[in-house]
Parts: sequence; C-alpha cells; structure tokens
Amino acid sequence: MTTSRLTDRLGGLAYGGDYNPEQWDEEVWKEDEELMRRARVNLATVGVFSWALLEPEEGRYDFAWLDAQLDRLHAAGVAVDLATPTASPPPWFTLAHPDALPVTPEGNRLTHGSRDTYCLAAPAYRRACARIAAALAERYGDHPALALWHVHNEYVTLCWCEHTAAAFRVWLRERHGSLDALNEAWGTTFWSQRYGSWEQIQPPRATQWHHNPGQAVDFRRFWSDETLAAYREQRDAIRAHSDRPVTTNLMLPGYQNLDLWAFGREVDLVSVDHYPAAPGVDAAADTAFGADRARSFGGGVPWLLMEQGTNTVYAGDRILGKEPGEILRHSLGHIARGSEGALFFQWRQSRAGAEQWHSAMVPHAGPDSRIFREVTEVGAGVARLGELAGSTVRAEVAVLHDSDAWWAMDADGLPSAELDYHGTLRRAHRALWDARVTTDFAHPEHELSRYRLVIAPALFLLSDAGAENLRRYVEGGGTLLVQHFSGAVDQRMHSRLGGYPAAPLREALGVRVEEYRPLRRDEQAVLSDGSYGTAWSESLRTEGAEALAAYTDGMLTGSPALTRHRFGAGVGWYLSTRLDDTGYAALVERLLRESGAGPALPGLPPGVEAVTRHAPDGRRWHVLINHRDRAAPLPGPAHDLLTGGPADHLPAGGCAVLRAD
Ligand code: GAL
Repeated sequence: MTTSRLTDRLGGLAYGGDYNPEQWDEEVWKEDEELMRRARVNLATVGVFSWALLEPEEGRYDFAWLDAQLDRLHAAGVAVDLATPTASPPPWFTLAHPDALPVTPEGNRLTHGSRDTYCLAAPAYRRACARIAAALAERYGDHPALALWHVHNEYVTLCWCEHTAAAFRVWLRERHGSLDALNEAWGTTFWSQRYGSWEQIQPPRATQWHHNPGQAVDFRRFWSDETLAAYREQRDAIRAHSDRPVTTNLMLPGYQNLDLWAFGREVDLVSVDHYPAAPGVDAAADTAFGADRARSFGGGVPWLLMEQGTNTVYAGDRILGKEPGEILRHSLGHIARGSEGALFFQWRQSRAGAEQWHSAMVPHAGPDSRIFREVTEVGAGVARLGELAGSTVRAEVAVLHDSDAWWAMDADGLPSAELDYHGTLRRAHRALWDARVTTDFAHPEHELSRYRLVIAPALFLLSDAGAENLRRYVEGGGTLLVQHFSGAVDQRMHSRLGGYPAAPLREALGVRVEEYRPLRRDEQAVLSDGSYGTAWSESLRTEGAEALAAYTDGMLTGSPALTRHRFGAGVGWYLSTRLDDTGYAALVERLLRESGAGPALPGLPPGVEAVTRHAPDGRRWHVLINHRDRAAPLPGPAHDLLTGGPADHLPAGGCAVLRAD
C-alpha cells in the first residue's frame, strides 16, 4: 500500500501540536477551534494519553469521545495525527497484568502512577498494544481528518524482568548461533563467566562490579530490536486498515536506547521531539544538532519536528522561559534542516496533572499573552512556507554516528570516565555549526563518497566493515578526521590487537597507536603548535603520515598528537587528544578549507545561520536565522517568504526565508 504524503494532505507545512482535549470541556473546545484558526494550526496530535478513555476496561472500547473530537477537528479544518495510546497503560491494565510492569536492574518492579510503566517484552502488554492499534485503525483508518499515524510516544522504557530475560535469550541464540560462539564473543573464559546453558544467561542486572562488556552491549542491541518489533506490530496492524503514513516520535538526542538508523528505515516519516536544555545560542546549536540527526536517520528525506516547547523544558534543574523570538528561531531551525513543519507539546497548558507547569501554545494566562501572540506570528509565517514542502537539504560534511559505538562507550571498565560519546559528537557538530556548514550524520558503514569531509569523533567500537569502508572512503578521495580512542574494539567488543585503531583504518591514517594514556582531571597536554589537549593522550607513531603537532611534555614529548596522511586520492587525519575549543575550531576550519567544503551561503557574518532547501525541480530556498544581537546585511535584496515582502537585512534575532534565483 503506498502512503500519502503528509504535506499533500495539509496543503503546506505542518503547524500545531499535541492536543489533549480530554482535559477540558465543550466551552474550551469551542475556544480551541477559534484559537487554532488564529494560530494557523493545521495538525493536532490526538490520543497520545487516551487509553483509559478509549478502553475503560479490558476489551471494551468506547470511541464516542474520539469520534466527536475527530469530526470536530475536521470541521474546523485541522487534520489529525492520531496516536496509539500505548505509552501510558491505564490502571486496570497493570492491575490485571502486574508481570507487564517494568523491573529495574536492581530487581524492583515499578508500580502504576506515572506513565511509560510497561515492559515491552511482556506478552500481555504487546497483545494489548496490537489490539488497540488495530481497533483504532479499523475505526479511523480512512477518516477524512486523518493525516498521520503516531505509534506510541517516545519508546523509552527499559526493563530487566523475566520476560526480558526470556526474549534476550531468544535474541542471543539468533545472533550468536551457539553457546560456544556467545562465550567466545563475550570473553567469558575470564572471571569464570562461562555459560553452560542458555537459561543461565541474564540481562545485565545489578551485580557486584563490572558487567561483562559484550553482554552489556548485546543487551542494548537486543532492546533496540525488541522495541522495533513492538513498533512494527502496531504499524502493521495499522497498515492493514489505513494508507496514511505511520511514524513514532523519537526521543531527544541525548537518549540512546534505540538504533535510530534502524527506526529510520521502518517509519514512513521520521519524527522527533526536541527540547534544548540550554538557553540562547547553545539552544540554537542544539536545535541544529537534533534536526541534522533527524534528517539523516531518514536518509535525507523530509521529516517532522513532532514536539518542542514554547519555553525551555529543563535547563539543569529549572524551567526557563524562551526569549522573545526564540519560538520562531527554533521552529525555523528545524524547518531549515528539512522538517516539514513545527509542532509543540502541547496545545493548551494543563490545569492539573503531571505536566501542569510544562509550557504550551496557549498558556495558563490564555490567548492574551506574549506566548500565544508569538505562536500566532510563527503560525502565520509557517503558513507562508508551503512551497518548501518536499524539498530537502544537502550536506558536504558528515559526522559519523553509530549506536553500537555509543553503547560500547557506556561499558564498565573503560580507561577513563571522561569519555563522553554524546558530548564528543555534539562538539564536532557544534564546530561545524559555528563555521556555518550544513552537516549530515552518517553511519560508518554508509556510502560516504558524496561527502568532501567526514569526521569520526567517537568510534570507540568500529566494525570490520566500518573500518574497511572508511579506508575506502579516504582512498577514493575523501578527507577523514578520526579522533582519539576510535577503532579500539570490534563489533564483539574485542580489542584490536597489534596497535590501534583497526588495521584497515590505520592504513588510511598512516599511524599506529601503541598506548592510551588518559590525563589526570587537572592535566593539560600542551602541543607543539600552541594548542592543548585535556582528558586523553596517546602514544603513537606515524607510519607514512606527517606529524602536524606533537606532545611537548613527559614521556610523550615529541610523539605526534595530530597527523595527516595522503592515502590514495584522499587524506586521513588523526587527532589523539581532546583538543581545546580554539584549537579544535581552527582544526575544523582547516579541514573545511583543505577539503573544499564550506557554508551553504558564503559571505554572511558569523552568528547568522543559513541552510538551503532544494526542491526536486531545482528551486531553492535559503533559510536564514540571525543569532546576533545586531542586524546583519543580506547578500542582496530578496523576497522574504516569511513576511511576504522585500528584505535587505536581518534584524537582531530575526529570520528570513529567501527564494534563491
Ligand atoms: C516529551 C513527551 C511529551 C511531554 C514532553 C514534555 O518527551 O513526548 O509527552 O511529556 O516530553 O517535555
């Protein structure tokens, strides 16, 4: 069954958010319709938390409420993104199926009272999910309001119960084939961990000291596959009755329970939630990071920002208000990078309940408020961007991301606690963002030849196939930067022997790392070019590469820290420490220069973000966001779609969407 395109149904980009009308009465619904019209809302996500209402007791459905809501929204010109309510099982479910409640690694079974209290591996839960997904699809599969299916909400809960253990063993048999192979892969000969039967194997529950690293990484892989299977069951139940696209909203970039490349292949449209945890320009950089990831997981096709806040959710331990103009800048930050719209959690701020202080499009103060006025202005702007629908973003630079590498870096017993996978990736992306370069994320085994520059900031685990792919990429003419502690272990978490990183990659980089030497917390490794490293250093020797900077202290004095190697038609760079911010920015600028990659729209001042969207027919649009507190000139006078008028500069904090000639 071919699925219809979301934006075709909407007639433009999506604008709106989670809509939970079950919290309100008819009078408020009437006002919602009027306010949605004013804000140009055209898509509402309905039903995310409505399980108790839709199935008040096991097997008894009551759809009258939802029938009325969908008809009402349709009459008001608002399309529906219909959710399956499975992220929040009602009390009757958990009371009837206590074995479906999640268990922590310490063995504590959680109780009802929040949300996301389920074990994805529990058969009763899976059956209940597939049942309600099918019932919804059967009833609403071709409802005229329906534009999109929203399976579940942020697959996030992990579980260590007996159902999980049983499913884990099935997965392990499939992956390893035999117990001998599993014992070999996990290195169980050490510490007397050898398994004599499958039943002896547990999920990595709380234990005395280090977990077995192979077991720990396999468990994360298993959980991701189990989650994907749960998603597929609901998706397929829906597809049997409906031709509308199906998605699930993926968690914020800092959560890594899933192999998001795998999810990208299974959804009809990638959708993500994004709540930057820092204010100001850091939030803008974080927005770009989340948006570039979302686009990349779907292979570059359009995607959708499913949730954001009208304020910052938690900056550390408190909720911070967004500055005036930030709702527009963040919404456009996502649209610039390929989102087919901008949605929020949630439409109307709750009066009671668990998220009553979470921001919304209509705040407690009501429509006569700064937030609703901004929401309305942004809605008017997004409504004028309809022609961008279906256009995509092109990047010349990629940062490599692999969930296996992230999970591997979570293993116990690594040489330093300061190795931070997520932080290291963000830093690489941030340096490129500061240089105003549009960046994709890619997997180490992807075809990379379309990129002029590829950065591998944290590939601690690198598969044989990945190492070979990176070697080929350089040989074929690419520029590759590999950073410290990469290529250290293979897909089984076995250390690479004979020198790091993995052999095929060493060939491309022209180096051989002999020893990892983590630095003390307060230690700096000063390099011969004046830059310095923290956290980490390595003893390495060149095997064909030229040394561009060397360590200047202690036993590493004279040992290369940064190297460059011409290999085939390309260049392999290796950086063996965590370079200071200025040094790292200078290195990234140099890599961009030498590889010939650059900003989408050159000539703009620093602090002005510019991304280009390309339509299949050759039309292009530049989306510009001024993060500075002063105006910025545009390269030439142009028509700004956001205002519908001419523009020759960007005001402080202002945005523009320009048709390119
Ligand atoms: C999201 C979630 C929403 C809401 C929001 C609050 O992660 O999907 O339901 O809880 O967080 O920021």
